[in-house]
Amino acid sequence: MRPTFHTMTFGCQMNVNDSDWLARTLLQRGFVQSPLEEAELVILNTCSVREKPEQKVYSSLGRIAQATRHNTKSFVVLAGCVAQQFGERIFDSFPQVRLVLGSDGLVFAPDAIERLRAEPGLRLCFVDFSDSYIERPLKITPNNQPATPVAFVNIMQGCDNFCSYCIVPSTRGKPKSRSAEAVLTECRAWLEAGAKEITLLGQNVNAFGLDVTGDDAGFAELLRRVAALPGLARLRFVTPHPKDVSPQLVRAFGELEQLCPRLHLPLQAGSDRVLERMRRKYNRAHYLELIRQLRAARPDMAFSTDIIVGFPGEDEEDFQDTLNIMEEVRFMSSFSFCYSDRPGTAAERLPDKLDAKLKLERLARLQALQERLSAVWLQKRIGDHSLLLLEGASRKASSSGEAWQGRDPYGVPVNITLPAGNGKLGALIPVCITEAKKHSLLAGSAQWDIKH
Ligand code: 5AD
Ligand code: SF4
Repeated sequence: MRPTFHTMTFGCQMNVNDSDWLARTLLQRGFVQSPLEEAELVILNTCSVREKPEQKVYSSLGRIAQATRHNTKSFVVLAGCVAQQFGERIFDSFPQVRLVLGSDGLVFAPDAIERLRAEPGLRLCFVDFSDSYIERPLKITPNNQPATPVAFVNIMQGCDNFCSYCIVPSTRGKPKSRSAEAVLTECRAWLEAGAKEITLLGQNVNAFGLDVTGDDAGFAELLRRVAALPGLARLRFVTPHPKDVSPQLVRAFGELEQLCPRLHLPLQAGSDRVLERMRRKYNRAHYLELIRQLRAARPDMAFSTDIIVGFPGEDEEDFQDTLNIMEEVRFMSSFSFCYSDRPGTAAERLPDKLDAKLKLERLARLQALQERLSAVWLQKRIGDHSLLLLEGASRKASSSGEAWQGRDPYGVPVNITLPAGNGKLGALIPVCITEAKKHSLLAGSAQWDIKH
């Protein structure tokens, strides 16, 4: 019987990408995916960026133990930021965990898993940081199937900005860039396998090439080289830091047709006092100036962001500054979170913590504002001519044709009904936006010249 595995992933796109790499590697080694209850191997890829996702990891470990209790061979591989944070200590509390993989340890997973299967008493832990980015064997698609239209490629790992609230510098280590050549080789492989869109990933992507590893290319130069690859229709990246947005990067938005006119640019707070104590190294005026420059370079640019509410010492006036900058930028969407203490961070030691009720109240007000901004932004799209990258059949059945789902250049999910046989995974089709839903759009026709 072939060995079975089940993957559970929390946190950022980088974790999703890491889990996908491990899954593809295991599939190529003859493993098969299974429901949790039947899995010999349960891979739990974890996030500790905020308190909530960290708690979810502990409840998941309990759920896994319960679901797999009848299977004595079953064991857990704990990867990601919680694994890095706790290392071997996790073995004491969770007997089912036999492999701990920190941020730089994933590359060792496939061989370690084979060893653990062969030696039942063994437990292994890989939590050392490496000095440079460790290249992983390229695993594009399991067993040579075509790639999905949308691919994700890591370009760097780690961060040394030490924003005062953030645990990432201690869980991901200092920044380590890949070489531009390695990034390009991976991008080429995805495109050759059929991908049309590439998202470049890293904790602070626009610090690419600024550390001692990698080669000499900076981030804007890397974008140029990736954009020039044959077959690439769309290029995106997450996550940039406002302080590292260079004039070259602003120019790239005006010049590179493949670069989508959407930027996720974490703001965190709108008050200079709070930004200072967050150690973000930019102020409100600088952020707004970047938005202005980017809009000048690319008038159809849309922005999304991350916001923390209830940072220690945040008063009502600070919070109002966050609300009013959100109105000023007109973010198309945002992720917002209540501040939570993270162990070992500078903000953990700050006075004037806010109580949970006040944080939740502010979060609700901010999210209500975002809902209004998002609704206005989506409504304005009605009548737009746009290009849709078809990513899959839509869940909604339709009698009049085939229901497809794709994304527009802003990354918004768009549903469309196409005459039977007209849709193809990975096709880019011209559409006209006809209706706005809460978080998605409908497109009515695949003709540019339809009038409404
Ligand atoms: N509390 C709340 N939110 C946090 N984030 C990071 N650290 C914390 C924290 N201690 C948020 C930031 C970041 C996103 C990934 O998580 O907004 O951009
Ligand atoms: Fe954390 Fe700041 Fe680094 Fe982002 S830039 S990972 S918020 S320390």
